[in-house]
Amino acid sequence: MTMEWNASSYEILANPMTRWGEEFLAKLDFRGDESVIDAGCGTGRVTEKLLERLPRGKVLAVDGSHAMVEAAKERFAGDERVSFSRQNLLELEVEEPADIIFSTATFHWIPAHEKLFERLAAALKPGGILAAQCGGEGNISRVNEATGKVMGRDPFAPHFENWMDDKLYAGAGATEERLRKAGFEPERVWLHEEPTEFDSVETLASYLGAIILRGHVEVLPEEKKEPFALAVAEEMAAMDGPLFADYVRLNIMARRNMLPR
Ligand SMILES: C[S@@+](CC[C@H](N)C(=O)[O-])C[C@H]1O[C@@H](n2cnc3c(N)ncnc32)[C@H](O)[C@@H]1O
Repeated sequence: MTMEWNASSYEILANPMTRWGEEFLAKLDFRGDESVIDAGCGTGRVTEKLLERLPRGKVLAVDGSHAMVEAAKERFAGDERVSFSRQNLLELEVEEPADIIFSTATFHWIPAHEKLFERLAAALKPGGILAAQCGGEGNISRVNEATGKVMGRDPFAPHFENWMDDKLYAGAGATEERLRKAGFEPERVWLHEEPTEFDSVETLASYLGAIILRGHVEVLPEEKKEPFALAVAEEMAAMDGPLFADYVRLNIMARRNMLPR
């Protein structure tokens, strides 16, 4: 999967992520003057909410996608609290370690969590906080079931012969273990469900194509991209119950150890 995202589609479709981001922020305490890294800032919709909590603070908005960083730069033009960096979080380098690393809807796109947490620990001051939410164990199993059916039939099947899904929906216990190995003390790590309804098959298809299934769509020729996302949405509509994506979020609150490992 490439690191590039369609920033304009994400900006329009990311209401669920923005809502979860706001709810997650409400659980955090800020003094208001901290230095914060937003790890995987996207177009900045959640960063904007984060900045409301940091009247005297600063945010380094990091993302691996050029289009996402450009969109975030445009959103925060003139706000001196915000700086930007296009980087792969697996190789994160910062000029100054931060008080807090904040991240939403990003870590499940980066399956190497041990390496990720090591880089994050190195970018934090001793005693600094990691507060993150991403897809967790059991995430979108209903969507995956529908996707698997559509991938297995014509005209899509030949494109998925070597398909490997490289997302990681980690559990709480495994995450605590990885955090400890990377030099964090987990304070609270937990999963919660966020079933998310869609008002039509067409809305769901656009959402799937731009976000959940962006890796799948990437391997398809242009003329099959939209039909694939639509076929998965129709498969989901044919399931029992309302039209919804069965999201599960993994919440992480951890503190970087005071002493080097
Ligand atoms: C679903 S968006 C979330 C954006 C924002 N945090 C929000 O909640 O709306 C995931 C973001 O993570 C970024 N991302 C994924 N893998 C990354 C990596 N290895 N390094 C840096 N950014 C990455 C993507 O480019 C994308 O902008």
